[in-house]
Amino acid sequence: MLGLIVARSKNNVIGKNGSIPWKIKGEQKQFRELTTGNIVVMGRKSYEEIGHPLPNRQNIIVSTTKQYTGDNLVTVGSLQEAIDIAGDRDIYVAGGYRLFAEALPLVDKMYITEVDMIVEDGDVFFPEFDVNEFEITVGESGGDNIRYTRTTYTRKEKTKK
Ligand SMILES: NC(=O)c1ccc[n+]([C@@H]2O[C@H](COP(=O)([O-])OP(=O)(O)OC[C@H]3O[C@@H](n4cnc5c(N)ncnc54)[C@H](OP(=O)(O)O)[C@@H]3O)[C@@H](O)[C@H]2O)c1
Repeated sequence: MLGLIVARSKNNVIGKNGSIPWKIKGEQKQFRELTTGNIVVMGRKSYEEIGHPLPNRQNIIVSTTKQYTGDNLVTVGSLQEAIDIAGDRDIYVAGGYRLFAEALPLVDKMYITEVDMIVEDGDVFFPEFDVNEFEITVGESGGDNIRYTRTTYTRKEKTKK
């Protein structure tokens, strides 16, 4: 299963000045639950922002300039290499822009957290995609000063490229 996990603002922003432009208690819980024990794939900048491999899961970094390796940490040169390493195991694409764009035609399921705010001057956006290719399920809402809603996009039969 190829999954994708993202949180985006109402105007589709996912990043600003190299980081995620909100901090909402509990918002990252789903990410942790889905990826723990599985495989998470992220671009080099997202990894460097976190600064260390995420614990209790295989971290695959995509980069053409750096080679991060270690316990549960490997670097590959393309999304396809990450998919090949995963084999039959569940793998979750965690951004940023280019990996999301490359994964979109291939994903089976997307976990999109809709963050109820407008971000001015965002510089990384979630790519456009055809919503008609997916069944959308609206899940729980949460948050404190900023609210969010979980949504799940499950690919309809025969739309996978
Ligand atoms: N809201 C969210 O859910 C979310 C999730 C993730 C990230 N973010 C935010 O998004 C921003 C970072 O995203 P970003 O798009 O700027 O950078 P990124 O995707 O994290 O990293 C970009 C780098 O990853 C490597 N890379 C990505 N795709 C590749 C591919 N297909 N083949 C080879 N290398 C590839 C390249 O590294 P080299 O230059 O080393 O070749 C590229 O320069 C930050 O602001 C972060 O906080 C938000």
